[in-house]
Amino acid sequence: MSSFDLFKYGLVLLLPAAYLARRYTRSAAPPPAPDTAPADEKPVKSIMQAPRDDLAPPKDDPFTLEQLKEFDGSDASKPIYVSIKGTVFDVSAKADVYGQGKSYNIFAGKDGSMGLGMSSLKDEHAVPDYRGLNDADRKVLDDWHGFFTKRYNIVGKVIDHPVKESPNVETAEENPTSNL
Ligand code: HEM
Repeated sequence: MSSFDLFKYGLVLLLPAAYLARRYTRSAAPPPAPDTAPADEKPVKSIMQAPRDDLAPPKDDPFTLEQLKEFDGSDASKPIYVSIKGTVFDVSAKADVYGQGKSYNIFAGKDGSMGLGMSSLKDEHAVPDYRGLNDADRKVLDDWHGFFTKRYNIVGKVIDHPVKESPNVETAEENPTSNL
């Protein structure tokens, strides 16, 4: 292989890695906030899964935080649930990221709203009480709620969530420039 080939392959490998690192590094760029492309920006092809048009009507089944734990991906015969601001989503279709030992398993079987708002994967941040978030991080959290609403079936709501505020789903719905 010539040194030019090595250079080419190096670029092919490094550029996406650099892009992802920049996109997700808190200090370098805002946290991963889906659905927030400014109006004057051309839509960019997203690395995220596309919204779905085959979602079931949202269900209203009650879950306690304790009951949610059953759906953390540790039992492959059960669905995997992620709750955001008390809305419970069935993310079983993405067991490759939410399943046991996978990158976002930290959010499975619980309501990890605070961690989502902070763009943190730390265990201690994956808790339901997000009242400590600043406005920017609340916006990130609402954007995640919108992101999940467009991609996952809603199976219920958390009845003992510490925050009694209804999710602001407008953020994502009102953004016509969204390419996610
Ligand atoms: C360098 C750090 C990171 C990289 C390279 C990265 C990369 C990615 C990629 C490639 C996806 C798409 C996955 C797929 O559709 O299969 C994704 C989705 C996602 N990321 Fe990250 N990420 C990073 C950090 C974070 C952090 C800190 C959070 C914490 C909130 C986070 C939360 C998520 C969530 C919730 C999804 C959506 C998965 C889904 O349901 O489709 N990521 N990330």
